[in-house]
Amino acid sequence: GKVLSIPDFMRMKQEKEPIVMVTAYNHWQARLAEKAGADMILVGDSVGMVEHGLKDTLGVTMEMMLMHCKAVMRARQRAFVVGDLPFLSYEVDEREAIRNAGLLVKEAGVDAVKLEGGKNRVSTIRAIVDAGIAVVGHIGLTPQTATLLGGYRVQGKDEQSARRVLEDAIAVQEAGACAVVLECVPASLAEFITQKLSIPTIGIGAGSSCDGQVLVFHDILGLFETFKPKFVKSYANGAEYLGSGLEGYVREVKNKAFPTQEHSFAMDEKVMEALKK
Ligand code: KIV
Ligand code: NA
Repeated sequence: GKVLSIPDFMRMKQEKEPIVMVTAYNHWQARLAEKAGADMILVGDSVGMVEHGLKDTLGVTMEMMLMHCKAVMRARQRAFVVGDLPFLSYEVDEREAIRNAGLLVKEAGVDAVKLEGGKNRVSTIRAIVDAGIAVVGHIGLTPQTATLLGGYRVQGKDEQSARRVLEDAIAVQEAGACAVVLECVPASLAEFITQKLSIPTIGIGAGSSCDGQVLVFHDILGLFETFKPKFVKSYANGAEYLGSGLEGYVREVKNKAFPTQEHSFAMDEKVMEALKK
């Protein structure tokens, strides 16, 4: 099979075929995402929260991203894989940004990197793209800088902030981004931006008019129970389902129902007799 590429997503935008992106952080998750038919897999820095128990994404490192990207790439068949650049891996200077983006591409083999920010990241996006690496933008609610935004809140509700989100969208496109994630922006603003841009918009909490949608793997499957944002829809009770499987195992070991002969290895009785003499 062929791996999807940027022209495929440009065509999907033109033909109004929704682009489906899902996060995945390891091999089995990526395999399930591929099997389900996801067009794009995001190895998000949300990994810090859903897989490492961190309280936010700030503590995620390049080392963590590299390891998770490599695991995902080993399962990749058709989906376009995007790796997040973690906090402070691209803000210090452009050389460092290129080097870190390059690590995700050269060592892990991802198809593109994603970084947060709009107008303030134009030169960084341009530098990475100039180095030959595809960049996905991420504007609206940017979790790595949520403190500056006053917390995890919808962006672009009043005219001033709506204009800022719109200008950020145009700026990342002009900087050379191949797509842009719109996180937590009003649906009508996301629709306007989607019409205005030639590159695909991928929404999360951004209504139904974006060119694509992205959700976190654990949120889709009901595996992350710490909190559930308004924009999340869960399609399975994963924690309940997996939990009852584990409880079954614990119960059967405790009451000696497992293992039985069926799961054990036999040997010739004469061998044991000889051994005991
Ligand atoms: O890290 C992540 O999962 C993301 C998506 C929510 C867009 O950046
Ligand atoms: Na992210």
